[in-house]
Amino acid sequence: MPTIPALADALPVVEDEIRRLATSSTLPIVNTFSGRITAAGGKRLRSMLILSGALALSGEIGPRAVTSAACVELLHAGSLVHDDLMDNAVERRGVRTVNAEWGAGPAVLVGDFMLARASQAALERISPFAAGKLAAAVADLVEGQVLEVLDLFDPHRTPENALRSIALKTGALFRVGCVLAAHVADADEETTVRMSEYGAHFGLLFQILDDLLDLASTTERLGKPAGNDIRQGVYTFPLLRAVTDEQRELLATRGRELTDAEVAGLLHELRGSSLVPDTLAYCTSLAAQTAHALPDLPESDALGVLRELPRAYLDWAASRIT
Ligand code: FPP
Ligand code: MG
Ligand code: MG
Repeated sequence: MPTIPALADALPVVEDEIRRLATSSTLPIVNTFSGRITAAGGKRLRSMLILSGALALSGEIGPRAVTSAACVELLHAGSLVHDDLMDNAVERRGVRTVNAEWGAGPAVLVGDFMLARASQAALERISPFAAGKLAAAVADLVEGQVLEVLDLFDPHRTPENALRSIALKTGALFRVGCVLAAHVADADEETTVRMSEYGAHFGLLFQILDDLLDLASTTERLGKPAGNDIRQGVYTFPLLRAVTDEQRELLATRGRELTDAEVAGLLHELRGSSLVPDTLAYCTSLAAQTAHALPDLPESDALGVLRELPRAYLDWAASRIT
């Protein structure tokens, strides 16, 4: 992934802030739960967008940009704890999930704790505007997740419905991160709108690739079980575009009770189909659209990072396909 010294210096500061915000001084057990997800880290892609955005727009990465990145990462982490509970996932980033280790109660509570801490930090350390935007994004996340739940195990779900869900459940957080980058840089309205579009497109790109990897990568590479979406009845955008009538029939009749062998057979067929080239072609165009959405700004290293990141992320994801 492209990086520059200013970004490499600021990311560990974000990391410290995430850890500080996710820590309870009164109840250390909370830290055991939250540490499970924050210590496992992640790609910190959202932070890279926010920090590069602030730098490209204002020439600096100030404390409000750092807090924006930490808040968005914390909301992301909290939503994953809840998501793993809803998905019955046992492993994420190669580590057992909070729900698998301690059960549903702690998973609900630690997700809520992260959400609360991010909201408080946004209000106190960024601005009421930022806190409002983040709260609206959380509502979008929930709505996107609800749309997904409503369509579970529906083999006639349309690719458009899948896109609508992921624009909310994933796109909203990328979008708000880029809006906050513009906000802390005191950018004008037009620049903010362009940053918002850049973030929304990036979110779609990210989730479509995540959905593709679930179908076309391996458990070892993913750090979470491959094929989980099919097992859980989440029929994703890449799957819905590639599925044959025969496969749709299998999902319609046996979707909820597919055996491991049937899931493996379906994955094998999909990997031999146009699934991968078609989805990568779609994502190549989306990556170009994402970069194209960027505001017109004076040339800088940070702008270069924003321009290159969609394509670099696509290449990284493509390299993880077996
Ligand atoms: C991951 O998708 C899940 C999301 C992007 C959104 C989840 C949102 C909620 C559970 C709403 C609650 C929100 C908060 C802030 C507490 P995925 O299951 O496709 O990704 P995965 O493959 O990484 O599991
Ligand atoms: Mg999941
Ligand atoms: Mg999910």
